[in-house]
Amino acid sequence: MVTETKQTPETLVGVVTGGIKGIGLGIAAALAKRGARVAVTYRSDDRAAEAARDHLESLCGNHGGILLLKGDVGDPAVVTSHYEEVNKTLGAPHVLVNNAGVMPQQAFDTITDRDWEETIRINLSGAFYWCARAVPAMKALGFGRIVNIASVAARGGGVIGPHYAASKAGLLGLTRYAARELGPSGVTVNAINPAFIEDAGIFAHWSDEKKEGLRQKVVVPTLGHVADVVRAFEYLLDSPFVTGVALDVNGGSFMI
Ligand SMILES: NC(=O)c1ccc[n+]([C@@H]2O[C@H](COP(=O)([O-])OP(=O)(O)OC[C@H]3O[C@@H](n4cnc5c(N)ncnc54)[C@H](OP(=O)(O)O)[C@@H]3O)[C@@H](O)[C@H]2O)c1
Repeated sequence: MVTETKQTPETLVGVVTGGIKGIGLGIAAALAKRGARVAVTYRSDDRAAEAARDHLESLCGNHGGILLLKGDVGDPAVVTSHYEEVNKTLGAPHVLVNNAGVMPQQAFDTITDRDWEETIRINLSGAFYWCARAVPAMKALGFGRIVNIASVAARGGGVIGPHYAASKAGLLGLTRYAARELGPSGVTVNAINPAFIEDAGIFAHWSDEKKEGLRQKVVVPTLGHVADVVRAFEYLLDSPFVTGVALDVNGGSFMI
């Protein structure tokens, strides 16, 4: 049975996991600029979290419209309590961006079972926990946008390690399943596969010399920037007819 799809709500409520820095902060800023109420989660970096709050409030001009939530996205009890806090303070989320992630570099000769479980728990289970909690209200409303931040490693395997590649490939499976089930309810579910975003995560601290190696892995003249991922996010946010896709924002490196 197909539910009637509603218009985009006048005031969006968004959740961005890992939204206090890097790609997540860029996406949260894009939502704040649109006047959305935005909850950003993080694990431990309180100083960056306070700076993010100031930045986001300055963009939306709405003190009280930005909510900071600290805790481990891979812990289902934490996600339940964060979801309830968002619901109570900002309203049920219309937009969910599963962005929080870790990328510890470990090949088969060094990785332990514990390393594997930890990366799957944070990068993949965290996204599932948030989807499971946010989906019922999105379905009831007949509108929702879920965007999962995967990686080029989900396609080609990448160079971080088996745990990271599997967690990101798992996100693509979650994306496609959810897109199928939730499409009739007006909820789109998509992924973005970034790579070599030079102003985010580990690459933000790399020297120009070290980045030269990354330039060999893309087919265009530049490395990526947070703004490139934000553009892809905004396209997905504004596209009711696009679901179940993974947008490659990686300078064509998925072909190499
Ligand atoms: N940068 C790239 O080139 C690139 C390429 C491919 C994919 N990605 C993906 O893009 C996403 C964002 O990456 P980024 O480069 O922007 O990284 P980043 O700047 O390191 O940001 C990661 C965010 O995730 C949060 N986080 C990590 N573990 C968490 C946990 N257990 N619970 C809650 N929050 C947690 C961090 O919180 P704290 O700050 O408190 O630690 C931080 O806010 C990740 O999923 C990454 O795999 C990035």
